[in-house]
Amino acid sequence: MKILGLHHVAAAVDNLEKYSSLFETLFGIEASSIETNPANKVALSFVRLGNSELEFLKPLDDNSPIYKFLQKRGPGIHHICLLVDDIRGALDELKAKNINMIDQNPRQGANGSLIAFIHPESTGGILIELKQENIG
Ligand code: CO
Repeated sequence: MKILGLHHVAAAVDNLEKYSSLFETLFGIEASSIETNPANKVALSFVRLGNSELEFLKPLDDNSPIYKFLQKRGPGIHHICLLVDDIRGALDELKAKNINMIDQNPRQGANGSLIAFIHPESTGGILIELKQENIG
């Protein structure tokens, strides 16, 4: 498995506009427009940070995993996303090490990417997303 870099850090928030304007005030960086991802029950925006991004995730409804996270822990860092060169190979390697995966197989991410989450049980409590870009 080859880690190519940090793709993004994602924060769970209760209000996208609030965090967009906060980060503009703090650092003078402008957030993207807001997108919705109904499949994952989130609305999101992001700010570019050089080669990586900070992503804000807001639940679309009470069934969203982000809603449950906010109820339990309040706004804050939700997961980090590492770029890999070969996500299927990475999953095979992790499963061979008996690492608990949330996704047994890669699934569709944004912009034609493939993603898979490792269970925080196997990472000391840090939710980690793996992503492979430019598939096909
Ligand atoms: Co992510």
